[in-house]
Amino acid sequence: MKGGASFSLQRRLQPASAATLLLALSLQAETGREAWLRYSPQHVEKIPFVLATLGDDSPRIANARDEILKGIRGMTGKTLRLESGMPKETAIILRTLPGDQSPDAYSLKTDDGNITITGSSDRAVLYGAFAFLRKIALGQPINNLDEQQTPHTPIRWVNQWDRLDGSIERGYGGKSIFWDAGHARADLSRVREYARLLASLGINGCAINNVNADKRILSPEFFPQIASIAAALRPWGVATVISVDFGSPKTIGGLDTFDPLDPRVAQWWKTKFDELYAAIPDLAGVVMKADSEGQAGPSAYHRTHADAANVVARALAPHHGLIFYRGFVYDHHMDWNNPKNDRARAAYDNFVDLDGKFDNNVVIQIKNGPIDFQVREPASPLFAALEKTNKAIELQITQEYMGQARHTVFLVPQWKDALDFPCNVLVARASACSDGFSRRVQAFIGVSNVGLDDNWLGNHLSQANLYGFGRLAWNPDLTSRQIIDEWTTQTFGHETIETIAKMQLSSWRTYENYTGPLGLQTLTDIVGNHYGVAVEASERNGWGQWHRADQQGVGMDRTTATGTGYIAQYRPAIARIFESLATCPDDLLLFFHHVPYTHKLHSGKTVIQSIYDSHYEGAEAVEQYVRDWQSLKPNIDERRFSEVLHQLEYQSGQAVVWRDAVNNWFLRASQIPDEKGRVGNYPGRIEAESMTLDGYTIVPVTPWETASGGKAIECPASRCTASFRYQGQPGWHEIRVQYFDQSTGVSHFRLFVGSQLIDQWSASDQLPERRNKVDSSSSTRRTITGIALRTGDEIRIEGIPDGPEHAALDYIEIK
Ligand code: GCU
Repeated sequence: MKGGASFSLQRRLQPASAATLLLALSLQAETGREAWLRYSPQHVEKIPFVLATLGDDSPRIANARDEILKGIRGMTGKTLRLESGMPKETAIILRTLPGDQSPDAYSLKTDDGNITITGSSDRAVLYGAFAFLRKIALGQPINNLDEQQTPHTPIRWVNQWDRLDGSIERGYGGKSIFWDAGHARADLSRVREYARLLASLGINGCAINNVNADKRILSPEFFPQIASIAAALRPWGVATVISVDFGSPKTIGGLDTFDPLDPRVAQWWKTKFDELYAAIPDLAGVVMKADSEGQAGPSAYHRTHADAANVVARALAPHHGLIFYRGFVYDHHMDWNNPKNDRARAAYDNFVDLDGKFDNNVVIQIKNGPIDFQVREPASPLFAALEKTNKAIELQITQEYMGQARHTVFLVPQWKDALDFPCNVLVARASACSDGFSRRVQAFIGVSNVGLDDNWLGNHLSQANLYGFGRLAWNPDLTSRQIIDEWTTQTFGHETIETIAKMQLSSWRTYENYTGPLGLQTLTDIVGNHYGVAVEASERNGWGQWHRADQQGVGMDRTTATGTGYIAQYRPAIARIFESLATCPDDLLLFFHHVPYTHKLHSGKTVIQSIYDSHYEGAEAVEQYVRDWQSLKPNIDERRFSEVLHQLEYQSGQAVVWRDAVNNWFLRASQIPDEKGRVGNYPGRIEAESMTLDGYTIVPVTPWETASGGKAIECPASRCTASFRYQGQPGWHEIRVQYFDQSTGVSHFRLFVGSQLIDQWSASDQLPERRNKVDSSSSTRRTITGIALRTGDEIRIEGIPDGPEHAALDYIEIK
């Protein structure tokens, strides 16, 4: 009996259960902190015995060696023997061989069983080490390596918009990893981890403070703090950069001026950088935002941006420092009533005449589009206009206008749109195009804004944007598909590739569909959190993100013939395409033209019907993402699986909020009904304000489109109820409760069918805030599936408020 029992146990373990056990072990809860550097088990034919370093050791070589040791151990279970000098057995050899090529160039070569990783600097060896490990993680052969890699541009940096108090401007992944309460953190371990992630992508610089620079960063007590951060980044080949305020000579320097042409000011910058470089000799340079959104700038003294950039550049030059001067300069007090005013024109208008007037160590840092990281913009014409000036393209990894960490939006396809411009517009020439913007820039800058959250960006799937930025900066010819497959394989495993690629590659289009299609821009609350829907927030103010929708039509007329003339900033071949309604691409139509709602697109649809349809398509696509993600349950560890599931379910609810808000707004404006009868007509939806209320009061919501029917109910008492009788068919149903979760309290809800308690929950999520209002940003939903309903059943929801959070409800929908 005994033997029989153990025999059968063994049989049960062999072989299927052993595999299951292995899978279960490898699916241990993961936090996302290792990101794509997880080194999960792989099948590798042959690994050399030894890991040898030739030549001098340095912290970067040590990191390269340790990384290979760790990676090989994780992926193969084998621990390489460490040696220095030429080994007797087969080896992985790390060596530095300076040459004429880029200091970041490396090669990987298999020869006689040895694998040699050669870098033209110790940083390049580190890059080679990561590339070698990536190959193994991607299941690529390593027994026949022979490749040479040179980065596309020498400068591949991230900018962090971290404030010295530890908060991050437009950061959605927690507090700053660098700063806390006005000082550099004592524990910089997350900075070291971040630097490792950056190095794995070949990113070689990081600006460590907000571009809206705190003047204190240039005061002497900060120098040792900057130095301590630099010491954490340096061993990973990541150079430190700081953002500085142009007004500093006056605000902290004690001068009565910051006029760039005043010799005292020039001397001040010089002395300041001499002191700073004494503390951090390898500081890579500075970022400067001047004359923009309230920052001090040369206009105060009627000087030019070249005067401003050059005075700082000359002080940096003896230390080989660079200044990245932002091209993001515009007037945010523009007169809305003047149809010729146009924020999109600003960067070009401010800089074009200065081409050739900047010193060699000045780089103009230009956002991909002419406005501000909107869901879709044409590429900035400034890239082509500056021919004798160094340029950087600035891309935003943190998803400020792109759903923040709450929506999955893979941005690489959007970035490629700018990098491939104008080739992708001049379709006929696309295959032969060799002057896409990616060829014209000397530097790639990604605004990354990672934070202390375990998964860095607040959403596991958003990590693909950081990964994608780094890979594109190294090689902009990589396709979106290549990048997402690489990232997915390393982050979630081979088995998940198809499902995740499908989701990620369509996610930009999906987000655009349920927010602002046809070049409308994001249609969010542009004077607040840049998150929830607020169709008119961009209008009638000086910020210039106008779409000029009215009863007759929609869109900004930027034509040369009748509009703001912005189109003329492009080269003639491109301008002609955008100027004519016959050739302007549908995706950008409303960015360039004001047209009636009945205008027919190339797609054959009218503008208004296309707006309606795309919003439904977008919302349906996110619902599908939820189902797609659910199918990955067997392949992904429980923690990351359920965190992403939760995020996608929430996104799916928000997509409906956006869909209804934008569509109802345009229905009211145009008075043209949806030809499919969906807009304004929601079968199964019972507005909270139409329920029988006990204690609850009806409140108008502003803007009106952000709550269904323009109203919500709030509970001003200690407990309130709202009820109605179910009028639909009997059967199994899903109940969706759309409610508001503000950040000022934790309300409780209980849902009853008849006298039976069906579900209860707390409104305890931390949603992107908008002045603690009841509106689209706090709108969220609870879905309760598998509920048996009979016609005539009473459905009752009970709300228990918490302080200023009033257990507000929008509607219940029964499917
Ligand atoms: C956007 C963003 C600001 C940021 C600015 C910039 O406008 O909302 O927070 O400071 O861009 O890039 O400088």
